[in-house]
Amino acid sequence: MYPAYRKKNNKVNTFTERKQCCFEFSMNGKAPSSDSHVMKALGTYAYWLATKAPVGENLPGRLYPVIPAPEKGFDLAKGKQIYVEQCSICHGVEGQGQKSLGAFVFPPLWGWGSYNWGAGMHRINTAAGFIKQNMPLGKGGSLTDDEAWHVAAYINSHERPQDPRLVDGSIEKTRKKYHEGDGVNLYGETVNGVMLGQGINQPD
Ligand code: HEC
Repeated sequence: MYPAYRKKNNKVNTFTERKQCCFEFSMNGKAPSSDSHVMKALGTYAYWLATKAPVGENLPGRLYPVIPAPEKGFDLAKGKQIYVEQCSICHGVEGQGQKSLGAFVFPPLWGWGSYNWGAGMHRINTAAGFIKQNMPLGKGGSLTDDEAWHVAAYINSHERPQDPRLVDGSIEKTRKKYHEGDGVNLYGETVNGVMLGQGINQPD
């Protein structure tokens, strides 16, 4: 599907640029340069995966299903209950994930180590689609649409690393430029008396 236009950065992205975004937003890291071994290896692997695939056509499994929002809006208390009962065993009560031999085996869903405020997953609608299709791991499709929204909203009502596109150090300006109209999200919104979007610094 690449090169392709992306609304996120308002330009045509090469496949390499698209992957670099994953490093910066989904993984909250630093993207390897386009001529690095890592980028070449990932590109080569993708090229092999695409053997005989049609060009420019959506293949099954691409993108997440669009889940209609609950009629009365999402409910953070219901989301918390679902999270505690069905998700915390793997992702941790504090959303911190779980490591084995120093590497994450279950990803953190908020806090340091999680995807950042610029990741697509910070949109509640996007997370609801992913969760409905894939979570709890091995039981995809078991949550109702409303449950997927409630638990997605609960996860995304927690603090996480800052949006790397932060404008002039201002949550307000960043919200205006990148988050308003970008699906349903809580960046710059006040939840339980605390303004979200302040970001989290790497612990010492
Ligand atoms: C049995 C363990 C397990 C359970 C239970 C589980 N998950 Fe997961 N979850 C995982 C694993 C493993 C991944 C990483 C999957 C991957 O990378 O393909 C993941 C990934 C995720 C992600 C994506 C994180 C990211 O950084 O992109 C979200 C969001 C998520 N899970 C939400 C949930 C929710 C909500 C529930 C409860 C309804 C849940 N999970 C239950 C194991 C679990």
